[in-house]
Amino acid sequence: MPARILMVCLGNICRSPLAEGIFASKASPTHFKVDSAGTAGYHVGNPPDPRSVEVAARHGIDISGQRCRRFTVDDFDYFDHIFAMDLENLANIRNLARDDRDLAKVSLLLQAGGQGKREVPDPYYGGKDGFEKVYRMIDTACDHILREYLT
Ligand code: 4NP
Repeated sequence: MPARILMVCLGNICRSPLAEGIFASKASPTHFKVDSAGTAGYHVGNPPDPRSVEVAARHGIDISGQRCRRFTVDDFDYFDHIFAMDLENLANIRNLARDDRDLAKVSLLLQAGGQGKREVPDPYYGGKDGFEKVYRMIDTACDHILREYLT
């Protein structure tokens, strides 16, 4: 059965759609199933932010078909690993956990990374550079996650 991975940020329009698209582009669908969600519900049903769509496209990845959804407590039942983009998302997800089993599924995305940083910064209010920077951080973290799985 494939490992089920959920990428989570605040809005599910900037960072976690990139994380979903990048991870899916590297991982075999036989071994991994990946989705994304946001802890807030501001953009439910919307496509990703055009700046995320653009940076992904520049790297050969199409995320334009994704639609925003909110993280729910049922996600703890379905997913094996839940990766939070920053400490605020991590705390919000942990607050919804029902027990230690749920809690054990949650970690920071960059914890997998050895990048010397803990958080993928929110690029929403910044310029386009922020999206490229975030893309690279997530890309490296996804490589680390896959490497950990393979060893
Ligand atoms: P994300 O970025 O969490 O990476 O999707 C944000 C998107 C929207 C908002 C905040 C962060 N917002 O406040 O609407």
